[in-house]
Parts: sequence; structure tokens; C-alpha cells
Amino acid sequence: MIDLSSIRAIISPAHGILYAVIAVIGYVLYRAALPHPIHGIPHNKESARRVLGDLPELMRWKNKLGNAFGYFTDLTQKTASPVVQVFLRPFGRPWVIVVDPRESHDIMTRRYAEFDRSAFFGDTMKAMGPQFHAHFPTGREWTVHRRLIGDTMSAGFLHSVAGPQMWKVAQSMVQLWKQKTRLAGDHPFNAADDIKRAALDIIWSATFGSETGTVRAQQSLLSTAKQLELSTETDAAVEFPEAADPQACMSIVTIMNSIRIPVNSPFPQIHHWFALKFYPYLVVAGRHRDQMIGSALKAAEQKLSTQKIEDVVESTAGLTSVVDLVIAKEMKMAQKEGRAPSIDSRVTRDELFGFMLGGYETTSTNVCWGLKFLTKHQDIQQKLRAALRSGFPRAFRADENPTVQELLSTNIPYLDAVIAEVMRCSIGALAAIRVATVDTQILGHAIPKGTDVFLMNNGPGKLMKPIEVPESLRSDSSREAKDRTGAWDPSDIGVFKPERWLVNDEAGNYTFDPLAGPAHPFGAGPRGCFGRKWALLEIRIIFVLAFWNFELLPTPESLSSWRVGEQNQAEQMYLRLRYSKNT
Ligand code: HEM
Repeated sequence: MIDLSSIRAIISPAHGILYAVIAVIGYVLYRAALPHPIHGIPHNKESARRVLGDLPELMRWKNKLGNAFGYFTDLTQKTASPVVQVFLRPFGRPWVIVVDPRESHDIMTRRYAEFDRSAFFGDTMKAMGPQFHAHFPTGREWTVHRRLIGDTMSAGFLHSVAGPQMWKVAQSMVQLWKQKTRLAGDHPFNAADDIKRAALDIIWSATFGSETGTVRAQQSLLSTAKQLELSTETDAAVEFPEAADPQACMSIVTIMNSIRIPVNSPFPQIHHWFALKFYPYLVVAGRHRDQMIGSALKAAEQKLSTQKIEDVVESTAGLTSVVDLVIAKEMKMAQKEGRAPSIDSRVTRDELFGFMLGGYETTSTNVCWGLKFLTKHQDIQQKLRAALRSGFPRAFRADENPTVQELLSTNIPYLDAVIAEVMRCSIGALAAIRVATVDTQILGHAIPKGTDVFLMNNGPGKLMKPIEVPESLRSDSSREAKDRTGAWDPSDIGVFKPERWLVNDEAGNYTFDPLAGPAHPFGAGPRGCFGRKWALLEIRIIFVLAFWNFELLPTPESLSSWRVGEQNQAEQMYLRLRYSKNT
């Protein structure tokens, strides 16, 4: 027989009240989790009716193209609005997406009292480097920390320390690729790790003053191989044996790669902090990183304690690394302020690590996209090679690589144009993110304080036909700056075309015009990329040596996908090289 007493207990008045309370709480939570659109800003109406907001659409984009950010700019096109909002965090505020280049530039460069660094940087970096200035709001602490490494971007340091190191590592990469072409013949190979290793070696040698040797280790290994067993199918990629990477750089890379934890987590900072504290592989790597930075700081202190600090900082003479420079600067500041220098502080450690973090993956990712663009556009590659040959006549006649001094002192407008176009079109630098620090407005739309604003690099006005905006909607400062930057011709705005950056002067010479049209791959304004000059120099050196020594032949279609992988990297980075030796 059925026991009715237990059913009566479930439907007793007390339980009824409990269920009603649960239902009400559930409903309140559901309502709170639903998107709360900002009045008047266009959005996807369907997304506004579901707790997950735009997430399902975004995932569809990601699965199709590997890159979810295309969804944002697609929405601006569909709504024909340069400002839209998306809902990606249940319970959270909408994100505002801005694609108008003039207004974006205005926000970054002139409206910094209303818009500051968004918490997104902190979400991904704070656990790794709590004192790294990149995630600080703009203010005194940010200024002081940033100043500590500020001189690394001076012309003196870039030309006399970093440039030669970049050149040396890029030469090693050329030597490695010579071995690879010898062994691979016409077969393609995956070059992503070579470029990442080179970028790591560059940032490492500049930071610590000595190479990791990771590129050279690969080259030495391959130089001992007589030949490899190759497929008869020339489109088949070759797999090369790999030398183990030195433990020191593996530890740093392991910590840097842990950035994927917060990027893919709903609780970014806590999750990352927990992982760094308790995941054994990260604990070991973190300890190793700390030991390395600690000994580098000690060595620099010993070296510099016998030198006249003012002279060293001014001239950069005798400085062989970022560590040297930072310590010399701290010693000089301490002398001036009459205090003992603080050599091994949390701030110094975090700034040094942050420096490597900022300069590693960003640069290699963009170099990879650049090599892909020039592999696809063979005509542009040939023009670039011709420009290099006439730009470095001595090296061409001598059949040698241009020296680093030649490279640093020669103006080659077509090279500048190629690099600018790579950066404009690159998928590696999609947006700068700001947070509104006051209630404000963008193009006539009210933006509440605390809203994250994405200033996109891949949308209308930059890579797609612009969306017209009445001048009356623009901010005063934007109106005043109207003609300071050109605008791209809408008919070929989406095409990879370095010529768009060149102007023909009265004497018939081409010059590079950095303001020919809008592009903000490094952000802009006070919170723009700290390492911009560094990155451009590194890309320049790698491009010159790569295109001087090799023809990048077309790669098979099956290995030439434009899908975007993790951290905006190219999913396929295959090269088919022919050693050109300038002939
Ligand atoms: C092609 C390579 C690079 C790209 C595309 C890139 C891009 C960016 C972008 C978009 C920002 C945010 C800008 C903004 O919000 O307005 C940024 C910030 C930053 N970047 Fe880079 N970056 C590159 C290379 C480097 C290098 C080589 C370093 C250091 C050696 C570096 C260090 C930093 C730092 C420290 C910040 C934070 C600046 C601050 O908040 O004050 N970056 N970068």
C-alpha cells in the first residue's frame, strides 16, 4: 500500500511555503542573471532574453573560425551601429563594443580622465605579477613602477643593447632555417616553435644579458643530421627532431603559458592564484623563476657597485641587460633620495617578469601572421625583397646579411609599410579595453560608470567599410582632431596592401606615412603598449633577415588555414623555404 503520510509531509503547509520561497528566490536570481541592456545601445535582441546572453553566438563563431571576436564586429555591421553591446557574463554588466576608429583613438589618447585600464588585464596578470604596472589603474603607483623599466625603450638601450641581441638571435634563426631547408628540400614545415623560441631568446637575452641558446640548440642538433626520411609527397610536412629546451626558459615559459588558465576560467584571478600556489608543475616553475631572477639581481648589484652610476645610466655603457639597467636606475634614484637602494623587491621582480611576459607571445604571434601574409601575397614579398636589396647595397654586393648598424640606420619605406600593414591586418592584436571611470557617453550613447569598453581593431573603418557617424555625435576633442589621421579607401580596406601607407612626394620618392589611416594594434595614449618600439624593432630585424635569406614559397592549401588558435595565434604556421642567398 502507498504510504500517504510521506506524501502529506511533502505537501504540508510548511513545505508549501518553503517551495514558494525557493521559487521566488530562483525567479529573482534568474531575473538578476538575465542581461540588463544599457538603454539605447543596439544589441542582439535574442541574446538579451537569455541568461547566457551572446555566449551561444560567440561559441558558434569560435567553433567556425577559431576567433570569437569577429562576432563583435559582425554585430556592428548587422545593426549598422558603430557602438553595440554584448552580454557575456550572467549577473555582470554588458560590454560595450566600439568600432569607430576616430572615437576609439579619442578615448585612448584624449579622454583618459573618463576611461582607464580595464580589470581584464588584472584578471589575466595579477596572480603572476601583482606589482606589474600593466594592470594598475593610471596613477602614481603605475607611474613609479613603469618608470623603473622606462629606459629599456630609450633609443640608446634599443640601439646599443637590445638591437644587437635581437640581430644575433635572428641570425641563429636563419642558421636553423638553413639546416631545415637543407634537410626538408621543398617540403613545408611548421615554423611556429622556431619563431616562439627566437622571440623568447630575444626577450630573455635582453632581460638577463645572455641567450637561453634554445634556437642554437635546435640548429646544432639538425647540423649533425645527414638527411631525413622524406615522404615522396612534396606537400607533406616534415617533422624535425627537437633538442630539449633549457630548464631555465622552460620554467619561465610554463609560468607565462599559465595565462591560459584565467583566460579560460569563469573565476580568472582566483583560479589562477590557486593554480600558481598549488599545481605542482607551476609551483616548481615559479620557484625556479624566482631563483633565476634573484640571482640575476644579485649579479647586477655586484657588477654595478664598482661603477659610477650616473654615467652608466646616461650612456648605457657597460649595461648588457634590462636587469642591469633597472638596478642602475634604482641605485641612481636611491642616491638622489639619500636612501639605500632596494635591489630585490617584489616590484622589481614583477616588473622584470612582466617585461618578458609583455614581449614574448605578442611579438611572436604577430611575426607569424606577418610571415603568413607574405607567403600568401608573393608579389608583395618580391617587392619587399627588392626594396631590401636596394636599401642595403653594400650587403647585397658582398652577399652578406646587413649588419645590425645598417639595419638600425637605414630608412626603407616599403619595409615600414609592410610592417604597418601586417600590424593593421594582424589577428594578434584585436582590441584595447578600457573601463568608464565616470558616467559618460560615446557617440551619443550614455555609458554608465564601470562599463568595460572594447575598442576594436578588426571592424568597420579599420578593416571593413566604415559606418557613417554624424559629426554632431562626436566628442569635442574628436571633432577638433578630425583631419589629423587619414581614412582608408573603403574599396580596398579589407585587402592586405602595404602601399596604402606610402605617399609619393614632390620629388617622386615614396615616404612612409604612419598617419595614412587608422590602426591601433598597440592601443594608444598613456596606456598604450609600453613595448611598441621594441616590438617594431624586433619584427623589423626578423623580417629583414628572413626575407634577405629565404624565399617563402606558397604552402599547400591544407597547411595554409587562417583559423585562429589559442591566444590569437595562427593555428597553422607552415613555411616552405628556399634559401635565396641574394641571387
Ligand atoms: C607586436 C607586439 C605587441 C603588441 C601587438 C602589443 C600590444 C599591446 C596592447 C594592445 C596593449 C594595450 C594597449 C592599450 O590598452 O591601449 C599593450 C600593453 C602593454 N604592452 Fe604590448 N604589445 C606588443 C609587444 C610588447 C613588448 C615587446 C613589450 C615589452 C617588452 C610590451 C609590453 C607591454 C606593457 C608593459 C603594456 C601595459 C602598458 C601599461 O598599461 O602602461 N608589449 N600591448
